[in-house]
Formats: sequence, structure tokens, C-alpha cells
Amino acid sequence: MKETKISVIGAGNVGASLGQRLIEKDFADVVLLDIVEGLPQGKALDILQSGAVIGFRHQISGSNDYADTAGSDVVVITSGAARKPGMTRDDLIKINTGIVSGVVKEVVRYSPGCVIIVVANPVDAMTWVAYKTSGFPRKRVLGLSGVLDGARLAAFIALETNKPVTDVSCYAMGEHGTNMVIFPRLSKVGGTPITELLPREKVDALVQRAVNGGAEIVGLLKTSSAFYAPSAAVAYMVEAIVKDTHETLSCASVLSGEYHLCDVVIGVPVKLGRGGIQDVLELELTPDELQTLAASAEAVRKQIASIPDLS
Ligand code: 2OP
Repeated sequence: MKETKISVIGAGNVGASLGQRLIEKDFADVVLLDIVEGLPQGKALDILQSGAVIGFRHQISGSNDYADTAGSDVVVITSGAARKPGMTRDDLIKINTGIVSGVVKEVVRYSPGCVIIVVANPVDAMTWVAYKTSGFPRKRVLGLSGVLDGARLAAFIALETNKPVTDVSCYAMGEHGTNMVIFPRLSKVGGTPITELLPREKVDALVQRAVNGGAEIVGLLKTSSAFYAPSAAVAYMVEAIVKDTHETLSCASVLSGEYHLCDVVIGVPVKLGRGGIQDVLELELTPDELQTLAASAEAVRKQIASIPDLS
């Protein structure tokens, strides 16, 4: 039986730590691809050599040749410029549109039946680039957003309430950026909304810290953006797809009428399974909440409008 195959494009911090997380979960063979000679090969070989210690049975390899990614079930696109201190994700649109569209053309050539997960920022716009460039159905193109943003908020809530983070559930929606949408009533500790546990100003502060979660780490690291939580979030999404769990996760997705929005990508709760997005879940939102989500989508539409011509 053909082994499940995951290709990770980009062997930088996010891509390499994702490759490590995926091989250690041991449900698929992994290919790390990068344009830099030796980089994916060296990192993959180093990870492979941990197999006897960690105990995984699948294979991980590195390559500079897209032919080695052929027949992938899932391809994760981490390649692209990352933010530097003071930059917004929008500043990356022009350069990353070129990178992502070029990568997607190779992905379509070698893995025409795969699911694409985009990490490159601004991820909502780059997911749109991948969707339009690939010609794939929208169910097979998604981006990393709400799983990461929700995990950041959960970490902050756990710290504040002194509860295990495994008792915390959060939803982040909308743009993966400053126009992120977090409805505190949907964030719970042991099933209790945080709005019943913490004062309003504390809830607002935790939400704002989550919105700025990526920028906070860029500011601390100076020369890199986050990669441990992003790679963990993507590995979780990949596992849901490969194992067909139908778990509901918040991912950057192409909308086609859900939440009264069309032809835009934002983070919304989706059921993930084999073949990608099985269903887009429409949460019961108030008119004000729908308006907030629409405003976030409008910010992404502006990013999409600034994408250079994709032909
Ligand atoms: C972040 O928020 C890389 O966009 C990712 O850290």
C-alpha cells in the first residue's frame, strides 16, 4: 500500500520544525524541499538520524528537486519572506505572491491531487494566491491561521487562570493579522466562558496579546518569526486531514457564501478530513459579530486587491 506522503516546501525554521513534528507523529513519509543546496538534505538527514532514539518508522528526506515531492497527499508551503521587526504581514504581499505562485505551479505539476496548506504570510492573501494559481477546488486549499491564533490565546488564558492549557478551548477567526476576530464568549475554560471568569479589561488584554502574538515573537527574536507554535498547529491540521478525523479547526478558507461572504479567504471553523475541508461550519453569530467578521474580510479583500497579476 502506498505510504502517505507529506511534502514541506521551505526548510527554514517553520518547515524544518514541521518536518520533525510530522515524522515524529509517524503517520507519513516526509519530504523537505528548499531551493538552497544542502539545506533540506542536511536538516532531513539530521532528523532521520534521530529515528533510532525517537522510534519513528517512516522516512524523511530532503531535496532541491520538486520531482521528489511527486504524489504528495498534502503539501505545506512555508517558503516565503518572514517579517522583520516593524514589518506588517501586508509588507510581504508582493514578494511572497511571486514565491507562492511559483511553488504552487510545481506542486500542481507533481501532486495534482494533493491538499495545499499555506503558511506564508499574509496567509489569507497567500491562500487566495494558492487557490487561484492551483485551480484546485476550494476544499483542497487552506491556510494556517485560527489554530495558531487560538493556541496563543489559550496559552495566555491558561497562564492567567492558572489552569492547564488542555482545559482551555478558543476560537480565532477572520484575518490572521491585526483584524483578527476573537469572540471572548466562545473562549472557555473547562466549559465556562472566560467572560464569566475574568474582568472585561483582562479579557480584552489577553485577546489583544493573541492578536499581536506573532509580532511579539518577531520583536523578541529580531531575525525570525515564530516557528514552534506555527509548526505544531500545521502538524495538527495535517494529521486531521491524513487521519480523516473530521475535527473542527479554524483555518484560512475560501468562502463561497458562508457568513454571507464570497470570494475571500478568512479563518473560519472547518471540518478537516481526507481530501481537505469537508465542511465550513457557520457558527451562530449575532448581527454585530457578523459585521465584525465582514470588516475583517474587507481587510483581506484589500490585501487580495493588491496582489500583483497572477497570470
Ligand atoms: C505567526 O503568526 C508565522 O504568521 C505566523 O507567527
